[in-house]
Amino acid sequence: MSKTTISTPAYLLDQAKRRFTPTVNTIPGMGLLEQRLLEHEWKQHTLAEPPPGSDLKAITGDSGLPLLGHIVEMFRSGSDFAVHLYNTRGPVTFADSPILPSIVALGPDATQAIFSNRNKDYSQKGWHPVIGPFFNRGLMMLDFEEHMFHRRIMQEAFTRTRLTGYVEHIDHVATSVVADWPTDDARFLFHPAMKELTLDIASVVFMGHEHAGEDHELVTKVNDAFATTTRSGGAILRFSVPPFKWWQGLRARKVLEDYFVERIKERRNSGGTDMLSVLCHTTDEDGNSFSDEDIVNHMIFLMMAAHDTSTSTTTTIAYHLAANPEWQQRCRDESDRLGDGPLDIEALDKLETLDLVINESLRMVTPLPFNMRQTVRDTDLLGYYVPAGTNVVTWPGMNHRLPELWTEPDKFDPDRFAEPRSEHKKHRYAFAPFGGGAHKCIGMVFGQLEIKTIVHRMLRNYRLELVKPGYTPKWDNGGMPVPMDGMPIILRPIR
Ligand code: HEM
Repeated sequence: MSKTTISTPAYLLDQAKRRFTPTVNTIPGMGLLEQRLLEHEWKQHTLAEPPPGSDLKAITGDSGLPLLGHIVEMFRSGSDFAVHLYNTRGPVTFADSPILPSIVALGPDATQAIFSNRNKDYSQKGWHPVIGPFFNRGLMMLDFEEHMFHRRIMQEAFTRTRLTGYVEHIDHVATSVVADWPTDDARFLFHPAMKELTLDIASVVFMGHEHAGEDHELVTKVNDAFATTTRSGGAILRFSVPPFKWWQGLRARKVLEDYFVERIKERRNSGGTDMLSVLCHTTDEDGNSFSDEDIVNHMIFLMMAAHDTSTSTTTTIAYHLAANPEWQQRCRDESDRLGDGPLDIEALDKLETLDLVINESLRMVTPLPFNMRQTVRDTDLLGYYVPAGTNVVTWPGMNHRLPELWTEPDKFDPDRFAEPRSEHKKHRYAFAPFGGGAHKCIGMVFGQLEIKTIVHRMLRNYRLELVKPGYTPKWDNGGMPVPMDGMPIILRPIR
């Protein structure tokens, strides 16, 4: 039963969970605690002494609270906490958290050094303690030559011809689902509705089911397993003991593995245009292709990489369009010029105002605000000494909030991305919501096309309104940023 179907038991349960699950964002008094923690003078210590005779500086930092480290500040304030670190501690600091000790590398220069990875100092192993067991051997988890080998094959699944096929599927699902959303109802929650829509899209585009409702029971089981796997990386207790999150995640991953193993058998012999069929058949220029095991690992990762990111971005866009009716109208004018015909890439390219709005939304609420790495050798990072085996967090989401790069960073102002202002060009890594270097998001264009398709269909059907003037969502930054109240938006039919 759909959570977007207002007043169904599933919807009401979801609402209750949202309100009553205790987290650092919902427990009363946490705001006050956060304030105290931000003002606290933590005892500093050094990560490691630089080699004698080197000009390198030592990295210093602190452990934060016993057991929790800086989780309270981080889960509540996300990239704003990183801005606080940057302003008070400088570009490189040590967060000696008991959960995941790491150095935090802030500012566009640090981001550039890490993403461009000139000397291959930084490995993706930094992701392993965070999501490794659940997304084992996904593309993002692989390193150097092995990564390039897999990326070259996968690139074939993202050519313009392939994208054209995906857009057709995405549009088909988005058109029918969006048209069914409840109207004139302040209880409609945009975020869960979008999660459902992107899962419906995934069942057709990624898994190759004929239409969103096909094999409903199986798809629901896979979707539930998928949601559990994705959530498990945010577990505070990071070991596998029933019934805790980490254990649930590993169990759910097994459901996904079994599902894909079975499906691959069918898809190896079919010529579908969904991503699973494509991965079963793609080869690089030298004729290399993926084994069944590779495809299972890549599909599980791809679905995760595509899902919460697009859901989060579309949710942020919906809020800003509702809060800024003049921008909503500008985007709708472009959509009206396209009309209701089937979409293709050329048509979507014409939605140029929407491009500005997408960028501004990605800047303000960056779905993957930070990226993990691990040093493979002793390294010089902006003149600081980083020993081999150190976890490194770089934080593009923080760069997106720096006043030295962006005028009035808290203001929704999509024109900052247009000529002549082009604020994103002030530094090569001023704006990096899709990362950079060898691991830059392979699904960037796919994601942009999916988001544009959904928003176009939405704008043709509805005027988006806030539930009350001045409403602003509060974000939970415990995983990818999620609006804590599910983000109510009122949809007014326009035709
Ligand atoms: C708004 C949407 C999206 C955002 C903001 C986003 C963001 C990112 C970022 C920041 C990275 C780099 C991670 C790192 O450097 O460690 C990344 C990598 C990746 N993304 Fe996306 N992504 C989005 C959509 C998608 C979609 C739709 C797909 C697939 C269809 C996808 C598949 C991937 C894959 C496979 C990687 C790993 C690339 C590699 O390691 O070579 N992403 N994404």
